Amino acid sequence: MISIIGTGRVGSALGFLTASTSLDDIVLVDRNKNKAMGEALDIVNTIPQNSSISVTGTDDLECISGSKVIVVTVGAGKIVTDRFDLMPYTVPIIRDMSKKIEKYSGNAKVVVITNPVDVITYCILQETGLSPKNVIGMGSSLDSDRFRYLLSKVLHTDQSQIESIVLGEHGNSMVPIFSRVKFDGKSVGLNDNQMASITNDVRNYWKPLTDLKVASVFGAAKHSYDIVRAMIKNEKLKVPASVMVQGEYGISDLCIGVPVSIDATGASIEKINLDKNELDSLKISADIVKNNIKKI
Ligand code: 2OP
Repeated sequence: MISIIGTGRVGSALGFLTASTSLDDIVLVDRNKNKAMGEALDIVNTIPQNSSISVTGTDDLECISGSKVIVVTVGAGKIVTDRFDLMPYTVPIIRDMSKKIEKYSGNAKVVVITNPVDVITYCILQETGLSPKNVIGMGSSLDSDRFRYLLSKVLHTDQSQIESIVLGEHGNSMVPIFSRVKFDGKSVGLNDNQMASITNDVRNYWKPLTDLKVASVFGAAKHSYDIVRAMIKNEKLKVPASVMVQGEYGISDLCIGVPVSIDATGASIEKINLDKNELDSLKISADIVKNNIKKI
């Protein structure tokens, strides 16, 4: 069973993806019971003919009992200037919800989408006491796809030709890893201006997107879906995601985007080579996340 807490745009898009691919039974939870029930009534019509999964809408967190995976999409409102905007309002909601996750479904894996995702992932980990392997923030895989798209524009190709990865905070200090960019399987040399411009664009990608359509939805839903699917199907997925680091990449005691391998056993951090500038930038990004963790 997959529980999706928060049935706003991303939560309902994720519900649609999980139901229409018959991933597992789905429970949609929202403070607004009518919204949860309405989304369930709509999403249930996307279940394939031969599938016996169910979709339920509720405002009762007890219904998450027995979940294999819980996805946290709840937010306190629209982000306008920065992903930290709503942190003081979001954290109390998350703390309260975490107690219920621990009470009703303490063996579940938790996928976090709520921003600021690195801080919220850490907060859920602390409040629930779940294993660090089982609490995973989605952000860096979405950033990596944005990076891939932006690189394809500069390199005048389509994005299928590009491999790329972004690490660090899902925020203004994220670190696009230029040393590992591949075009058609080969390394790519970009000049300083190109790298500075792409870095700025990937960090700010969400701004024009949210100006034009209020919130990013499908990218976040698809990347969360990939993580949930890897857990439910036990299919190994290698992506960057926000998990607790304990010395890896020279950083400790916080959640931040690093390369991980995800399957039914949760997330394991993978070690990849980075150049010195990238490692330094990752440490700066970690300091920013840590300073924000101190505020909660
Ligand atoms: C995004 O990057 C705002 O975190 C959200 O689309």
